[in-house]
Amino acid sequence: MRTVSVNGLAVAYAASGARAPAVCLVHGTGGSSAVWAHQLENLGDVAQVVAVDLPGHGGSGGSIPKRIEDAAAVVAAFLDALGLGRVVIGGHSMGGAIAQHFALAYPDRVQGLILVGTGARLRVLPRLLELLASDYAQGVDLLMSLAIGPEAPDELRTSLHRSTANNPPGVVLGDLTACDVFDVMSRIATVQVPTLAICGAQDRLTPPKYSRFFGERIAGARVVVVPGAGHYVQVEKPRETTAAIREFLGGLERRTPRE
Ligand code: COA
Repeated sequence: MRTVSVNGLAVAYAASGARAPAVCLVHGTGGSSAVWAHQLENLGDVAQVVAVDLPGHGGSGGSIPKRIEDAAAVVAAFLDALGLGRVVIGGHSMGGAIAQHFALAYPDRVQGLILVGTGARLRVLPRLLELLASDYAQGVDLLMSLAIGPEAPDELRTSLHRSTANNPPGVVLGDLTACDVFDVMSRIATVQVPTLAICGAQDRLTPPKYSRFFGERIAGARVVVVPGAGHYVQVEKPRETTAAIREFLGGLERRTPRE
């Protein structure tokens, strides 16, 4: 892991590759850059990939802003600190919400948008928010039972559950509370960059309908629904997800030749 100072805060990130385009990947609720392990390992030959640990997550200090749009500003400051101007911005779940806000707020900085297991609105089951506040362990149990697809192997189920449960109390609830009020459904059609939406066919937190919505609203967006995967599609079906991203990045190169 590396760290960079962002507004005086030590922000951890993982990185691979050195060639254009630069791709910034943002994890979801209670997550870290670790959810992009396969993509970091396998896309470094076609892109410079950076995966951030949002403040208060993984190896980063501080705490994430309460609003998704403010978290997008933190990602912009993170990219400034790395000297990355224009990027392909991607995110999973809450990270996908941050990526959408980033694309809406900083269109000149975005070469492409990758939306993984996310939606343009992310309302959260009230029962889930209540449980996370009253009984954190049970709340995480419910969250992960919905998040991980039925075909995921037990080891993966255990490791994703453990990494989410290990967050300091309040982090997961804070992330989901921010998701609950996130809604760019009426604005997302203004996105004009090449967009890829990927989700698991068995995703119960952000069902395929949410990804198809991107396909209907964002001109030219490609939608990939991966069979046999739940909400953690990039971890549950890493090869399929990475292949879809690789193809998308190859298409970008053909559209916008490097200078
Ligand atoms: N993309 C496309 N359509 C969406 C959408 C999105 N991102 N978000 C909501 N919608 C649709 C819904 O499918 C629904 O359509 P319908 O009326 O045809 O059934 C409509 O918009 C309203 O949905 P919603 O805003 O979610 O409100 P709700 O009161 O119907 O449902 C929940 C609230 C929490 C029950 C529901 O959002 C849900 O089951 N969410 C998934 C579980 C969860 O907690 N996910 C966490 C996400 S981080």
